[in-house]
Amino acid sequence: MDVQESIDTQRLESTAKELVVEGKGILAADESFGTIGKRFEAVGIEANEENRRAYREMLFTTSEIGEYLSGVILFDETIRQKASDGRLLPQVLEDQGIVPGIKVDRSTVDLPLSPGEKYTQGLDGLGDRLEEYREMGARFTKWRAVITIGDGIPTRACVESNARALALYAAFCQNAGLVPIVEPEVLIDGDHSIERCDEVTEWTLRTTFDALREHKVHLKGMLLKPNMVISGKEAPHQSGFEEVARYTVENLLRSVPAAVPGIVFLSGGQTDVQASANLNAMNQLYTDLPWELSFSYARALQEGPMKTWGGDAANAEEAQRIFRHRARMNSAARSGSYSEDMENEQAA
Ligand code: 13P
Repeated sequence: MDVQESIDTQRLESTAKELVVEGKGILAADESFGTIGKRFEAVGIEANEENRRAYREMLFTTSEIGEYLSGVILFDETIRQKASDGRLLPQVLEDQGIVPGIKVDRSTVDLPLSPGEKYTQGLDGLGDRLEEYREMGARFTKWRAVITIGDGIPTRACVESNARALALYAAFCQNAGLVPIVEPEVLIDGDHSIERCDEVTEWTLRTTFDALREHKVHLKGMLLKPNMVISGKEAPHQSGFEEVARYTVENLLRSVPAAVPGIVFLSGGQTDVQASANLNAMNQLYTDLPWELSFSYARALQEGPMKTWGGDAANAEEAQRIFRHRARMNSAARSGSYSEDMENEQAA
């Protein structure tokens, strides 16, 4: 039997398309215990199970977010938690018209014998975990690989081993009827130029798609979640919106097959306004692309609301207003209709 006949390609394709429908993007709320712990600590919130639950309930119950968000990526703990009214959190999302997804990698470890590089683990037992998540209502998944730019790195060992893991992950997901979001992130950390980011991003994407093809992944039934092509955070020259937009889209045109329905960027440490403006510039400058250009942000959507909430239910309403505003700004960036003036408009 042809491999494409053994999986439900139609279901995968329609879910992938639904996730990049016009005007909507994805919220990544799948921070691991370690990551959310660090983010909470930075704004003075105690990291415990109840605070993580209450914080995510606050985000997911924000009114009108279903107009701006197509999907939310959850963490293993969150997919099992309930809102105060007893509904499971994936149900809360469904009730907002939002598709629940789940992060399925098991975080990064140091790549052995390769100082400064990371490898993403989580393939063992993945098939069984996917079955469980699907029964819990997840329709898509995410796996993040990390590529670091530095002296003599990335190495071929790092780029190729991570690409291989991403492809295997994607194959397992499609086999289980779940849409994989393939995330090879070239980190913004460092003082490298935008040209160096461009070169490493192209190498990473080409290697990833070679592996995806080798593993017979159905490209129309997946989404790509890449970094934008941007200068390193400590680089002396900081790239502007138009420069980021042109470098990024030109790179993707060389590296990403047209069969992929959508590209959903990570924010990767950009400020929230920068992430909206960069996405907006791409959609403004390029109006005839083979794929949708959208967002799947964690920090750029959550920074403001998390700080305002601060672990206190009394601040929930104001935090939700800020979250709704950010989601609306990124929704506008999807059609190139975002402007900095909109930042000052009071969200309803
Ligand atoms: P950032 O938008 O904060 O980069 O996070 C996106 C994400 O999901 C990383 O895996």
